[in-house]
Amino acid sequence: MIAFITGANGQDGSYLSEILLDKGYEVYGLKRRSSTDNMWRLLSCSTNSKFHLVEGDVSDAFSMSSLINQIKPTEVYHLAAQSHVATSFAQPKHTLDVNTLGTLNVLEACKNASVRPKVYFASTSETFGANYSYFNLKGEICHVINKNNEFLSDFPMFQREDTPLGPNSPYAVSKVAAADLCRLYRQGYGMYVACGTLMNHESPRRGEHFVTRKITKWIGQKLRNPNTPKLELGNLKACRDFGHSRDYCNAMWLILQQNEPDDFVIATGKAWSVEQFLETAFKLVDMNWQDNVVINKEFFRPNEVPYLRGDASKAKAKLGWEPKVSFEKLVEEMVASDIGVI
Ligand code: NAP
Ligand code: GDD
Repeated sequence: MIAFITGANGQDGSYLSEILLDKGYEVYGLKRRSSTDNMWRLLSCSTNSKFHLVEGDVSDAFSMSSLINQIKPTEVYHLAAQSHVATSFAQPKHTLDVNTLGTLNVLEACKNASVRPKVYFASTSETFGANYSYFNLKGEICHVINKNNEFLSDFPMFQREDTPLGPNSPYAVSKVAAADLCRLYRQGYGMYVACGTLMNHESPRRGEHFVTRKITKWIGQKLRNPNTPKLELGNLKACRDFGHSRDYCNAMWLILQQNEPDDFVIATGKAWSVEQFLETAFKLVDMNWQDNVVINKEFFRPNEVPYLRGDASKAKAKLGWEPKVSFEKLVEEMVASDIGVI
């Protein structure tokens, strides 16, 4: 059991490394060169003799093929990405270079390996855009392709494996193309390539520019320094299906343990607005978010995904996977970590 994880020093890569080490894997974590140390999420792994950090860049085909040839992994978890949706509007080419062509490089390296590994690809609920499925009164499944990017609140909407895709950011486009490449390599070359379409998942290790961590980090700063300027946010009405990263990394492993490669939506099945996240987080420290938040248009996107709520029934039935951490516990853990209690 030899795993190669791209994006190992990211949020998911760090939890997945811990999970696989616990299961007895030899883990090779890919990290790109940086001028400053960004290994804080991998502190617990770095002392484990079965964990090996390797340097490379997914957008460099040579580095991917030589690493996969040297390591000879049995499982590849391809998580590396330019993962920030707002950044993808400002850096669309970079986003496609890393996310789409980077995935092509990983797939080609695995295709040409002497023993082909199983490959997991990190797809995303962003690929649905503003498209939904719902059950009508007769119990029939209906799909809505929403060209106006509106949240149609008349129905209990959700997204699952057969919901039509409607990518509406360069990030989402890059992931749709990459997931299509994965399916092409699966069908065309008979490779074991599986895609997880994961809804938003958070943790104390979440990057500081994603909305949940931006909020909890601000709370920690405010408690340390009452003069902290107000928290500037964008669209508070957007809804996301927030789970815990560790739960979702367990699903990644389960997905690769199936006999046949398949695609799965991973979700909690509940949607919360950014405003509800604020409300829950501020209540924990007896603060009123309305007095502390200002809306800044800079944080609105040219195109928004208004509402994400996943149906993970297939994952439950086939993988036996269910989320363990509730929304409330997730917010509590993030706030506690940022105020320094844990
Ligand atoms: P993350 O914290 O942003 O981690 C991304 C990782 O990719 C980082 O380690 C980053 O390294 C690395 N990376 C970026 N460009 C690279 C390159 N050119 N070569 C090698 N490594 C590179 O993201 P995450 O939340 O862990 O998400 C993991 C994956 O799941 C991503 O593909 C993301 O798009 C996808 N996803 C995430 C969510 C979610 O809610 N978290 C939901 C659905 C899908 P640096 O530290 O050097 O930047
Ligand atoms: N980042 C950010 N910053 N988002 C804000 C802010 C802000 O100041 N104010 C409001 N938001 C809103 C965004 O407009 C969006 O609707 C929502 O908060 C969540 O934004 P992010 O936390 O940046 O996450 P995301 O949903 O765009 O993307 C994340 O989830 C995807 C899965 O659905 C990322 O992890 C992606 O990599 C992942 O694929």
